[in-house]
Amino acid sequence: MVSADRPAVAAIVREVGNFSGPEKDCALELVDIYLRDAAQRDYRIIVATNAAGAVQGYACWGPTPMTLGAYDLYWIATHPRAQGNGVGRELMAHVESKVLEENGRLLIIETSSKESYGGTVGFYRRLGYEEASKIRDFYDVGDDKLVYIKRFSR
Ligand SMILES: CC(C)(COP(=O)(O)OP(=O)(O)OC[C@H]1O[C@@H](n2cnc3c(N)ncnc32)[C@H](O)[C@@H]1OP(=O)(O)O)[C@@H](O)C(=O)NCCC(=O)NCCS
Repeated sequence: MVSADRPAVAAIVREVGNFSGPEKDCALELVDIYLRDAAQRDYRIIVATNAAGAVQGYACWGPTPMTLGAYDLYWIATHPRAQGNGVGRELMAHVESKVLEENGRLLIIETSSKESYGGTVGFYRRLGYEEASKIRDFYDVGDDKLVYIKRFSR
């Protein structure tokens, strides 16, 4: 990701539909941390573009603080008009390859049990992530935190 991609990424965050106001703000805060200093090690961001160079999706991940070899996927989103065409799969393949390059052994994704995240959970399962834990009523009453993981052997 480079600064010129920010408006397209902001539009994706705005338009995917299932992010709350605070979630949108947080997603863009991480984008700005990355754009201010792409060499910092906490947050990495990649964008996926189409043949014309237009941004279709992005992913943000980084090493989980105070662990050895665990990584968090902080955000992933594909523009609604581009969903279902393999963009998310490509983004995840890139993230996983980078985690493996650094000898990562675990990729962790936190998501919500809300119905609006049902498709997202289907996507993670399809890509081989398994539910590792659930905290009931974490985000709100009736809105659990689901933790999905993939382990890499090393
Ligand atoms: C989740 C998301 C990133 C998936 O991106 P995408 O580009 O549409 O996904 P892909 O087209 O690469 O799909 C990859 C695989 O997941 C499957 N998949 C995608 N959406 C799915 C769904 N709703 N239910 C079940 N499987 C699904 C696809 O069938 C595909 O499988 P295949 O390659 O074997 O055919 C996208 O739907 C999105 O941006 N959602 C809103 C934002 C969000 O919830 N982000 C995560 C929280 S941070």
